Amino acid sequence: MSFLELAKRRYSTRSFKNKPVEEEKLRKILEAARVAPSAVNYQPLHFIVLQNKNMREKIATTYAGKWILEAPAVIVVCGNHSKSWRRADGKDHCDIDAAIAIDHMTLQAAELGLGSCWVCAFNSMQCHRLLELPSHIETIALLPIGYPADTADPDRHETKRKKTNEIVHWDKFTDTGL
Ligand SMILES: Cc1cc2nc3c(=O)[nH]c(=O)nc-3n(C[C@H](O)[C@H](O)[C@H](O)COP(=O)(O)O)c2cc1C
Repeated sequence: MSFLELAKRRYSTRSFKNKPVEEEKLRKILEAARVAPSAVNYQPLHFIVLQNKNMREKIATTYAGKWILEAPAVIVVCGNHSKSWRRADGKDHCDIDAAIAIDHMTLQAAELGLGSCWVCAFNSMQCHRLLELPSHIETIALLPIGYPADTADPDRHETKRKKTNEIVHWDKFTDTGL
């Protein structure tokens, strides 16, 4: 499978089969996160893997989408803001590092026939409390993973994405208002 085929295979899975994810596959997904690049190679991320049902149920209370309970594994992606790179103007690159690692994981999951979905619309403070994290660690995203029980819309890249000419600018930015 080419990279583009894999990128197009991934979709946000919001329904999962009642089937655990093999540990070997979870480890591959975490390895994909480990090798992701980070600003100045500071590697400010931590990954809390929740498989225990009680823990998953606890963390599911931080998010309105009840479908998350179907996922047999949820990876809580955390950033250590005392370790992430800050540009001279103060911009903290922790979220960018997290986004790259999460994307690596979603793509590795897709290659293994697994589904995943970025979840950022959760109560991060509540999640932080439930996981008893130190103050310099932020819970950035939840990544539920499992075998998909739904299927992707096959036309989504044509119907649900902007067209190339709406987002790509050759040599000069043209404001299309989009
Ligand atoms: C940063 C980010 C945050 C997201 N947060 C959520 C979320 O909280 N809940 C959810 O159901 N989907 C969430 N998504 C998934 C997007 O809705 C989804 O990626 C987008 O609609 C495109 O669909 P696709 O992933 O199936 O290609 C998030 C995606 C990204 C990149």
